[in-house]
Amino acid sequence: MSKVDSPHRAKPFLKWAGGKTQLLEQIESFLPAALKAGWIKRYVEPFVGSGAVLFHLAQQYSIQEFGIFDTNQELILVYRTVQQAVEALIEHLSDLEQQYHGLATEAQRDFFYTLRATFNLEQAQVDYSQPSTARAAQFIFLNRTCYNGLFRVNAKGEFNVPFGSYRNPQICFPETLRAAAGILSRTQIQMGDFISAKSVVDEQTFVYFDPPYRPISPTSSFNAYQKSSFGDAAQRRLADLFRELDRTGAKLMLSNSDPHNYNAGDDFFQSLYAGFHINRVIASRMINCQRDKRGKITELLITNYDP
Ligand SMILES: C[S@@+](CC[C@H](N)C(=O)[O-])C[C@H]1O[C@@H](n2cnc3c(N)ncnc32)[C@H](O)[C@@H]1O
Repeated sequence: MSKVDSPHRAKPFLKWAGGKTQLLEQIESFLPAALKAGWIKRYVEPFVGSGAVLFHLAQQYSIQEFGIFDTNQELILVYRTVQQAVEALIEHLSDLEQQYHGLATEAQRDFFYTLRATFNLEQAQVDYSQPSTARAAQFIFLNRTCYNGLFRVNAKGEFNVPFGSYRNPQICFPETLRAAAGILSRTQIQMGDFISAKSVVDEQTFVYFDPPYRPISPTSSFNAYQKSSFGDAAQRRLADLFRELDRTGAKLMLSNSDPHNYNAGDDFFQSLYAGFHINRVIASRMINCQRDKRGKITELLITNYDP
C-alpha cells in the first residue's frame, strides 16, 4: 500500500488549485471553541474544491452532517459518485490505472489525449444530477495525469489541460476513496453558486469559505478556475453573505489573499469585513514570480468570533 493511501483516512484524492492541505495546521488553531466543545452539529463548505478541510474536520470532531457546494459540475459529479457508488468507481478507475501503467511513455501520452477527447465529446450527454462511474473515473484519471492537476476549460467548455508527463502517477486510491465515501454518506452535495449554502446554515453550523482568491498582483491569476472568473463584485457578494449568515449565530471562517503583501494601502478586505476578526497567517505558497520578493507571504483568515 502506498504512503498516500493509508487505511480509513479520508483526504483529498484530487489535486486542486488552492487546496488547503498545507494550511490545515493554521486553520486548526483558528477554529471556533464551539466546534472543539462539540456544540457544532453541521459543517458547510460553499467552495469545496478537493475538500481538504471537510475531510480533516469530519475525522477530528463530532460533527453530525455536512453540506458541500461548488460551481464545478465535474467535481460535484465525482463527489456524488464517491457517495453513491464507490466500489464501482474504484473498479473502473483501477482498470484505467492498470491499462495506463501497462503502456510505454509515448503510448501513455496518446492514451491521455484519447481519453481527454472522449471526455469532451461525451460532455453534452452527461446528466450532472446523477452519479456516473465512467465519467468520475475519467475525471480523476485526467486530474492525476494532466499538467499540475489543473482544471481549465476553453471557450467551448472543453477540458484542455495538457499531459503532465509524470513518471509513475498513482491514480486510484481505494482506501482513501472508501473513507471519503463514509463521510460523504452524511453530506448534502450540491452544484451551484456559494449563495445556495444559505439554506443549510443555522446557529449550530460552522462554515468555512475558501473562494478563488482575489489576485494580489496584476500578474497573478489564482482565480483561473473556470470559464467565469471571480472578480471584485463576487468578493463583495460573498462579504454580504458573510454578514447575513453572521446574524444567524453560525460560526464563520473565510480565507483570502492578503493585499498587504504588495500594497499596504489596499484595504479592500479591511473595509468589506469591518467589524470581524481579520487574522493573518503565513501561506505555504511562495512568491516566485518576482525575484526580488521571493519568500513567504501572508494570507487572511477572517472569522466572526474571537479565535
Ligand atoms: C480555492 S478553491 C477551494 C479549494 C479547497 N479549499 C481545497 O482544499 O481544495 C475554490 C473553489 O471555488 C469554486 N468556485 C468558483 N466560483 C464559485 C462560486 N461562485 N460558487 C461556488 N464555488 C465556486 C471553484 O470551482 C473551486 O473549486
